[in-house]
Amino acid sequence: MSKLKVIFVHPDGTEQQVDTEQNVTVLQLAHELGLEMEGACEGNMACSTCHIVVDKKDFDRLPEACEDEEEMLDLAVGLTATSRLGCQVLLTDELDGIRLFLPKTTRNMMGF
Ligand code: FES
Repeated sequence: MSKLKVIFVHPDGTEQQVDTEQNVTVLQLAHELGLEMEGACEGNMACSTCHIVVDKKDFDRLPEACEDEEEMLDLAVGLTATSRLGCQVLLTDELDGIRLFLPKTTRNMMGF
């Protein structure tokens, strides 16, 4: 299976380019790499700690967020027009070269 390239931009502006297998989520990849993405609810759209900001030029390549994802994003710190939940973004061929910004802070909405 072919790999795809993903570029993470850290809060301090440094870029990290990685190659990954397809069909893993951004959250899974971030955990593999040891990046600071908590994922407290393990992908159940209940925490918003996997918040990422997608580069504007890449955003339209993603499938649209479902209603549950939109609702959880509304509670995320620093929400932007191109915010997504990392646990809901599946990395596929179509997303090769995508740039993802890691936010400075996230908010854990579990238990609220
Ligand atoms: Fe909790 Fe994504 S891991 S919303």
